[in-house]
Amino acid sequence: MRFFGLNMLPKAHTHIRKCNIFQLNFVKQYSTTLEPKEPVVLSKTIPGPKSTDLKTQLGAVQSTGTVQFFADYEKSTGNYIFDVDGNILLDVYTQISSVPLGYNHPRLLNLFKDDKNIKTLINRPALGVFPGKEWPEKLQSILMNIAPKGLNKITTMMCGSCSNENAFKSIFIWYQNKLRGSTAFTAEEMNSCMINMPPGAPNLSILSFKGAFHGRTLGALSTTHSKYIHKIDVPSFDWPIASFPQYKYPLEENIAENKKEDERCLGEVQSLIDLYNTKGKPVAGVIVEPIQSEGGDNEASPEFFRALQKICKKNGAALLIDEVQTGGGSTGKFWCHEHFNLEFPPDVVTFSKKLQLGGYFHSDDFVPKEPYRIFNTWMGDPGKIILLEEILKVINEEKLLENVNLAGKVLKDGLINLEKEFPHLLNSTRGRGTFLAVNCCNTKVRDLLVNTLKLHGVQTGGCGEISIRFRPALIFREHHANIVLDRFRTVLKTL
Ligand SMILES: Cc1ncc(COP(=O)(O)O)c(C=O)c1O
Repeated sequence: MRFFGLNMLPKAHTHIRKCNIFQLNFVKQYSTTLEPKEPVVLSKTIPGPKSTDLKTQLGAVQSTGTVQFFADYEKSTGNYIFDVDGNILLDVYTQISSVPLGYNHPRLLNLFKDDKNIKTLINRPALGVFPGKEWPEKLQSILMNIAPKGLNKITTMMCGSCSNENAFKSIFIWYQNKLRGSTAFTAEEMNSCMINMPPGAPNLSILSFKGAFHGRTLGALSTTHSKYIHKIDVPSFDWPIASFPQYKYPLEENIAENKKEDERCLGEVQSLIDLYNTKGKPVAGVIVEPIQSEGGDNEASPEFFRALQKICKKNGAALLIDEVQTGGGSTGKFWCHEHFNLEFPPDVVTFSKKLQLGGYFHSDDFVPKEPYRIFNTWMGDPGKIILLEEILKVINEEKLLENVNLAGKVLKDGLINLEKEFPHLLNSTRGRGTFLAVNCCNTKVRDLLVNTLKLHGVQTGGCGEISIRFRPALIFREHHANIVLDRFRTVLKTL
């Protein structure tokens, strides 16, 4: 394993070394670039003055309502994101859970010193029609190597939303194939689909859960129910929406009640499947997040997921597990659904974020027989596969899933202690690995905590109405957890 000395700091860091204006003490982080020893906040507000200027500039051509600050990605390093005002934040939100190895990981920087990789980057193919000669081998050795157990096919895509969107299409095609058997499309089917009418465009549905987030494209948005602002004014399919368990914490003190909650929600799933059958909109598939993320880090038990799979099997509906946010290792297993010990493999598993490109794993049954049914121009990106290959090597070599469990335990135990210290402010610490969340007493306090934490050098994210979520990179270590907890305690004391 290579360590990077101070002389080997990326060029962008040289001014820091020379003038040392932040009095930074850089420390070695395994094979990552050097990191500051702790966060540094220089501006009175975040966004600071330079970020505010850039926001005005951007505002001339784009909506900026979501922009928190402008980052300096040349300087950002490891677990720390640098902004244009000189603030250095310990990033436990990581681009909405999308950065596996932190910023400017030397192993990733190194990749683009290689001409072959640069050519892969600049000659981006329309993968469905002109894949490069390496593509079959790359898919086998990289993506199929991390395929959830039992799934032997993959469809690559661009982002999380379009992975779900196309996975729905695969599910509908699979469902209709089951009904049609080996008969060819009828003329009526071919004509009616052209004017969006059945039988060619059948009235099928996808069941989703209250509080779910599966993306913002039209089909995916019909299964998203986390915040009205994502949906308002946009037409949606009339598809069934079941309750997702709302547990009482701590789990070990509320076993019976939470079991009842599982049963209530599962009962609703079956009733809705029956209802939509009688409505003439049969449920072809069920989409579920292993941990509802945007919706508030709502967990459901392994028993819930096993029973949900049984309901899907009984009713001939496909089970789609959306691992866009949970996939890639931060729950302590590469796929979160591995924690559930499902009796059978899920039918479809979607991914994106930490895996750099989007897509879904599935079985043979979900491969359409005819070409161009699941298709777009890019269908993924071989340039991103280069990154993913190296990321997976580093995860293995540095045993980062083990690290996630160690660092996650420190963070989770610390949050539980903070809950005990500040019971009027915090409750319901939950999650797996470093994929953690805690509830605040109300939305106002949650927003205040997220903002004040930032001013104390820790970038977290909100989710649901009252939760703070933690989504650090896989290189987040125990000492980073202690910094987060220290700063959190300081902030909680000020309220
Ligand atoms: C569980 C889940 N599914 C789908 C998506 C949509 O992914 P994208 O933003 O890449 O379209 C997200 C995004 O946060 C997500 O968390």
